[in-house]
Amino acid sequence: MRFKGQVAIVTGGSKGLGKVIAKQLAQEGASVVINGRDMNALDEATQEIRQEGGRITAIQADVSKSGDVKAMIDKVVEDYGRIDILINNAAVFAESVRIMDLEEEEWDRLMTTNLKGVFLCAKAVIKQMIKQKSGKIVNMTSFTGKTGRVVYSTFGGPTKAHYCASKAGIISLTKSLAYELAPHNINVNGVAAGSVAPEGTPEEKKEMIIPLVPLGRMGTSEDVSAATLFLASDESSFITGHIVDVNGGTLMD
Ligand SMILES: NC(=O)c1ccc[n+]([C@@H]2O[C@H](COP(=O)([O-])OP(=O)(O)OC[C@H]3O[C@@H](n4cnc5c(N)ncnc54)[C@H](OP(=O)(O)O)[C@@H]3O)[C@@H](O)[C@H]2O)c1
Repeated sequence: MRFKGQVAIVTGGSKGLGKVIAKQLAQEGASVVINGRDMNALDEATQEIRQEGGRITAIQADVSKSGDVKAMIDKVVEDYGRIDILINNAAVFAESVRIMDLEEEEWDRLMTTNLKGVFLCAKAVIKQMIKQKSGKIVNMTSFTGKTGRVVYSTFGGPTKAHYCASKAGIISLTKSLAYELAPHNINVNGVAAGSVAPEGTPEEKKEMIIPLVPLGRMGTSEDVSAATLFLASDESSFITGHIVDVNGGTLMD
């Protein structure tokens, strides 16, 4: 029970990796709060995790809207009196479009949720964590934030540049937060997942990616969750400003 008595927020915890992270935090004793935009998905996730004995609640909030984020964090502090862990996981994905064809609105959509969302959520929890003189923030970045391309990009082909740039911004923001918050005993780290096949990944995508992975398989949500929980736990208390690669060796950085 690494997280017994702790309060954790997992943004985008209604689906995919975020739901697995929320479930594992709850299994290890945390009181978990998840958010997302779709209330039905949030209800389904909370029911599933509660059925397994987890303590979890959901708040409908869009991480790209400062009003939503402030209301969410205020509610968590009001309900629980503390915030020990923030997992900045919520993100939107991109179509494969070459930069010369990329619309400005699409660039803004990715940046506003993926990068600004991390800024807004981190900013909103910092005051509470400083008051507590402790906290863990884990930001979900990506292989793409380090390479500027998706794993299966080919020379001259589309790279999903806007997604990559949003994830690269998160890497830099993680280090800035870690530097500024270190005197307050707040650790800020990132997880750079790559070559991950969450539930529902098409077989043809897997077949394209597996030959590019030295460990010879795609990662699971549990692989990513294990690294995330390590960074959220006291086991990593002397690690800050670090990005952990979870990519089966696709990028050895
Ligand atoms: N899957 C991969 O292979 C992979 C690889 C590397 C990194 N990652 C990173 O891992 C994280 C999770 O990915 P995933 O594949 O699990 O994604 P996913 O299944 O699409 O889930 C995304 C979650 O974020 C929420 N979300 C999206 N926009 C939001 C917004 N504006 N405000 C609040 N919540 C929002 C979604 O809920 P609503 O839509 O209801 O809002 C959902 O709960 C992301 O940061 C992603 O970049 C994933």
